[in-house]
Amino acid sequence: MRLKLKDDLLLGVASSATQIEGGDENNNWARFAAEGKIRDGTSPLRANDHYNRFCEDIDLMAEMGITIYRFGIEWSRIEPERGCFNEEALAHYREEITYMLEKGIRPMMTIHHFTNPLWFEDMGAFESKESVDCYMAFVKKVIEAFGDLVADYITINEPNVYATQSLFFGEWPPEKRSLSSLLKAFSNLTACHIAAYNYIHKARREKGYTDTAVGFADHLRVFVPKDPRNLWHRTAAFLTDWLFQGAITDAMMTGRCRLPVMRHKSVKKGRYYDFIGINYYARSSVSGIGDGVAEDAFKNDLGWELYPQGLIELSDKLYAKYKAPVYVTENGTCDNSDAFRSRFLYDQLEQICNTDNPITRYYHWSFTDNFEWREGETPRFGLVHIDYDTQARTVKDSGKLYASIIRHRGVTQEAYDTYVVPQKYHK
Ligand code: BGC
Repeated sequence: MRLKLKDDLLLGVASSATQIEGGDENNNWARFAAEGKIRDGTSPLRANDHYNRFCEDIDLMAEMGITIYRFGIEWSRIEPERGCFNEEALAHYREEITYMLEKGIRPMMTIHHFTNPLWFEDMGAFESKESVDCYMAFVKKVIEAFGDLVADYITINEPNVYATQSLFFGEWPPEKRSLSSLLKAFSNLTACHIAAYNYIHKARREKGYTDTAVGFADHLRVFVPKDPRNLWHRTAAFLTDWLFQGAITDAMMTGRCRLPVMRHKSVKKGRYYDFIGINYYARSSVSGIGDGVAEDAFKNDLGWELYPQGLIELSDKLYAKYKAPVYVTENGTCDNSDAFRSRFLYDQLEQICNTDNPITRYYHWSFTDNFEWREGETPRFGLVHIDYDTQARTVKDSGKLYASIIRHRGVTQEAYDTYVVPQKYHK
C-alpha cells in the first residue's frame, strides 16, 4: 500500500442544490442568470438535472463505495412564498434522503448554500432585520420534515464568502458594494447559525435522538504576505485573515462577536458546533487587503494556488482553539480535463493521513461537475464528468482513483502508478 487511510477517516462527496438540481426559477441565482450575468451564459435552470436524476446519481455514489454525502436543499422550492410550504418539494427530498439511506449513505444536510428564494432576496435577505425569523421558520419546517432521517446538519455554507461576494465585492446577486450591508449580514448570519444550532439540538433531543451533529461550513484560506519582509504585506495578510474569516469563525462557533461582526441581540456566548467544518481550496498571497496568488505557485484552472498543506495548517489552528472533530466539508479543485485532480487528491489525502489532527471526515467537492456560480458550467470540479447536453454521467479517472481508495482503505501501488504518477501540476 502506497498510502494507508487512518482507521477513523471516512471519505465522501459534497454538492449543493442549486449547483446540480436544475429546474427551479424561483431563486436569486436563476434570476441572475436570466439577467445575463453568468460569464459563460449558462443558468442553474439546466445544471445536472439532478432533481429528476437523483436515483441515478445516488446509485453511482453507492457503486463508488461512498458512504457519506453532504447535499443541499433548495429553500425556494420548499418555501416558494413566505410562510407557504410546498408539500411536494418536502416529499421529494424525503424520497431522496430515504434512497440515500437505503443505499447505505449517511446524509449531511446543508440548509442554506448561497441561494435565496426571491421573496427573501427582495426583502433584503440576510441584511434584513427579519432574516433570522425567516430563516428559523424554514429551519423548523426542515427539522419537522427530515429530522427523523438526518442527524448531521450544516446550518449555513460559507457565510464569509456569501456575504462578501454578494454585498461587498458586488460579484454575486444582489451585486452590492456596501460595508454597512456586509456588517448587517455578518451579524444576522451569526444569529441564524446560533439559533439553528440550538433549535436543531432541542427539537431532535425532544424526539429522543442523541446523535445530532450541527456545524457550519467555514470557507478558510491561508493568507501569506506576498513579500514576507514587507511590513505592509505582513499586516495585510493578518488583517485580511481576521476580517474575512477570523472574526466570523469565532462569532459563529462561540457567540463572541468582535468587529467586523457586530453582536445580534439574540446572541449569547456558548459552544455552537459539534464539529469544525472546513471548506478549503487555496492559499492567498497578498500585498494589500484582499486576495492574490503567488506568481510561481502551482495553479488550478481558475488560477487558484494548489497548496494541500494549507488544510493542515488551518485545521491545526482551529483544532487547537475549538477542540472538536474536524470535518473537511469541502475540498477539491477546478481541473477541466482531469489532468491533475488525481495527483491533487493523493497529495491532499497524504497530508490528512500524516497529521495527528483528528480529521475524521473528508467530503470531496464535488461528486459531479456542476454549475459554478458566476462562472457557470465551464469550471469542472467533479469526480464524475457531466455532459450538459445529454446529461450523461461518466466517472473520470480521478473518480476511479477515489473509488479505489475507498475500496482499499488507501492508495495501492498500482493505483498510484496508474493515476497519480502520470500527472503534473502547472504554474
Ligand atoms: C462553495 C461551492 C463552490 C466551490 C468551488 C465553495 O466556495 O461552497 O459552492 O462550488 O467553493 O468554487
